[in-house]
Amino acid sequence: MLRSSPNPFASKTPGTIDLEISDPVLMLNEVAKRYETTERVLMEYVDNALDDAEALYRENGNTYPYPIQIDITIDRASRAITVLDNCRGMTRETLERVVRNVGESQKRGLSWVNGRFGFGVHAFRAAAESVSFQTKHAVSSHHILTVQREQHRGIKEAKRLDDPFPTDNGTGCCVTVAGFDRDWFQSVTTDSIKAEIENHFERLIARPNLLITVGEAGETRQPCQPFPYEQIEGSTLQQTLEVVYKEAVYPVTLVCQIANQPLNRPVSFFARGRRIGQVTEIKSFMRKSVHKTSVWSHPHLVGYIEVGEIVQPIINRDDFVRTYGRTLLYEALLPVETQLKALLAAVNEERRESTFVQFEQTVQQVLKAATSGTSKFMVTFGEEADGKRRVWWENGRLTINTSHPDFQARLRTSRLGNPRPSDRMSAYLAGVLSVYGTAELADVEERAARQIDLMFTLEAELREMQKK
Ligand SMILES: Nc1ncnc2c1ncn2[C@@H]1O[C@H](COP(=O)(O)OP(=O)(O)OP(=O)(O)O)[C@@H](O)[C@H]1O
Ligand SMILES: [Mg+2]
Repeated sequence: MLRSSPNPFASKTPGTIDLEISDPVLMLNEVAKRYETTERVLMEYVDNALDDAEALYRENGNTYPYPIQIDITIDRASRAITVLDNCRGMTRETLERVVRNVGESQKRGLSWVNGRFGFGVHAFRAAAESVSFQTKHAVSSHHILTVQREQHRGIKEAKRLDDPFPTDNGTGCCVTVAGFDRDWFQSVTTDSIKAEIENHFERLIARPNLLITVGEAGETRQPCQPFPYEQIEGSTLQQTLEVVYKEAVYPVTLVCQIANQPLNRPVSFFARGRRIGQVTEIKSFMRKSVHKTSVWSHPHLVGYIEVGEIVQPIINRDDFVRTYGRTLLYEALLPVETQLKALLAAVNEERRESTFVQFEQTVQQVLKAATSGTSKFMVTFGEEADGKRRVWWENGRLTINTSHPDFQARLRTSRLGNPRPSDRMSAYLAGVLSVYGTAELADVEERAARQIDLMFTLEAELREMQKK
């Protein structure tokens, strides 16, 4: 007997074909693999809390109506991490819809919030077994709903809870990501999450009445602190670029500071107050950039570029979608890069000088050690305008001419132009110093022998120092 089986390709409208995802769990889990760190996964849940806080902020004339608190708790014993906020929470209907309708974002088209994909809640799939949403909205009861990473059908609907919601105002959302894979959990600490939040949301946490805290279960909470740009000594380059695309103007804000001290906190791209990544991590921009890391990872340069709406982040928000808007943004940034390069040149010059001072001290130390403290002269580095002499001797001081071609040929520099030790340089200095270090010996034979000896000792010592 022939039995008719339902055709999986049958469409609801005759003559048309509808898209079907045969295995949504597999697809969601695969997409989540784009997240590279646990901290970055967690940022999606903090992001949602901040988006909800943003609605309150806007409704209240661009200030938070009450102190917003977002708390992240690491529970090591059960390998779980919780993000609790005291914002508006979700109604039961929203909660169930969020779980059922993957890829649907009510925020799409709202420029003041960050969400757009309806995928953030699925970020846990990269790293953990399950996510639970416990939430209470003013017009709905307290509910909990749990989603397992491997579960497609039969997800239990939201369960009502009788306890009060654990925030001072009684509403909010508590997301628990549980069953972390060991590998993803091991390196997570209060400090690593705190650092990620301080970097990722640095534009938002500076606002009054917003507190984000992190801590291990049962331990004291650590508050996330905004980066103190205003306390940094140095010069500032602040610009609003106006990128024109299809007759609309898109503002892009760039705030860079050239600090007097190295801070090693490279400039980052931000979109809607959320960090996309360090400028040098954005490969598509690095391909266009002329000065690359010598500007954007310069240890003295700090700041941010808020890109606004001219570009859109990709789903895991660590790069921009390839669009013509992106090309225009990058082109607009190139002249600023040139400007920064020029401003940093002065810093590089100063750094070069101070590195030479350190280098000088090292050479002096090595000379002292190699001659068992009997060396009678000082060594300095200097420049001579016409650059003809390799060295010159003056009042017990031997100056090594850094502008001489022989010195220059052996000088290795870092990408920022700072001198770096090298074997050839060590051999050069050892040769020169050994001549002056033994010059006072009258006997030719003895002098030659001592000179050779000193030359090799100096070279070996310089190489040792260089390794350190
Ligand atoms: N802490 C929260 N408070 C209130 N609503 C929340 C919270 N977390 C999630 N939601 C709701 O769940 C929805 C889905 O969140 P999800 O992060 O998946 O998508 P999105 O934020 O809209 O977009 P994106 O994928 O770009 O983050 C949100 O649009 C919001 O309605
Ligand atoms: Mg989101």
